[in-house]
Amino acid sequence: MGVRFRGWGIAVPDRIVTNDELSLTLDTSDQWITERTGIRERRVGGSAMSLGVIAGRDAIADSGMELSDIDFLVLATTTPDRLCPATAPMIANELGLTCPAMDVNAACSGFMYAVRTAYGLLETGNKRVLVIGAEHLSRWVDWSDRNMAVLLGDGAGAAVLEYDPDGNDLLSFHLGADGSAADLLTCEHGGFFQMDGKEVFRRAVRVVVDSAEKAMASAGITADDLSLVIPHQANIRIIQAATQRLGIEMERTVITLDRYGNTSSASIPLAFYDARENGRVKSGDYALLTGFGAGMTWASAIVKWSR
Ligand code: COA
Repeated sequence: MGVRFRGWGIAVPDRIVTNDELSLTLDTSDQWITERTGIRERRVGGSAMSLGVIAGRDAIADSGMELSDIDFLVLATTTPDRLCPATAPMIANELGLTCPAMDVNAACSGFMYAVRTAYGLLETGNKRVLVIGAEHLSRWVDWSDRNMAVLLGDGAGAAVLEYDPDGNDLLSFHLGADGSAADLLTCEHGGFFQMDGKEVFRRAVRVVVDSAEKAMASAGITADDLSLVIPHQANIRIIQAATQRLGIEMERTVITLDRYGNTSSASIPLAFYDARENGRVKSGDYALLTGFGAGMTWASAIVKWSR
């Protein structure tokens, strides 16, 4: 069996917060943020539901399908609108979907965990799954804490995945989790995101390299075969360190964090969309999609674009 990507959509809030604007209220600077993270600005606003609805609607339209074609919705989010109910049923309702809908929380690996979940659903009888990554991280940021405020942004991205008996875009996965590192990046009930940035950085490079190598090995390809790397957009230096160890030049890597910051579950579909807009997604090419995040969790997949 196989699974095809059929359509993609994104959403970002209109409000742009630049590094200079943050420097007005925080002891930081555009130079520090740009040099240490690669981030120049981020989008702020909306909610997981409102952004997820726009991205989901666009992905269905892009796929050329009808609403009634979608038979499952999986939403990856770290920042659901409410603890209960899940945000996915509310998005489904707004979209006019009547299919099953659920949230998945794997922090910044969320989109790839949701794609893996969709793959399993398609293997076991579903025909078309809408996968959305949507985040309202700014709600859980203490805007007087320069450690977190400079990093995060809001946004959403979505993809429609379809069962195809004759072909396959998703060649392999490698996912993992290590709860012994749970305290490195947290947000308690009613609190704000907090992080041991140095340790997250160190571990992120390690798990991305390891999971990417395992995903490539199980797809039967090497780094030389990859036309594109679509990494989770947390910090340009993490991406540089990981791709360098994998032997992949930055020219083959998609970067959107300069404009959006770290949007957690939304970052990989936002980066895919940017690559496609710029003509970098070509039929027959291999791509590595790889994420890491709080948990810790990590997830890599090898994709061969069919269109
Ligand atoms: N603005 C200005 N200065 C800052 C600052 C900020 N926002 N944050 C820290 N500093 C200062 C520190 O106080 C320190 O000053 P000192 O040298 O006088 O002591 C200096 O900058 C270096 O701080 P350090 O913490 O060593 O910076 P870093 O190079 O480790 O970068 C992060 C910090 C957070 C950018 C980096 O560790 C990181 O990106 N980690 C991974 C985070 C991540 O990706 N999380 C999401 C996972 S999904």
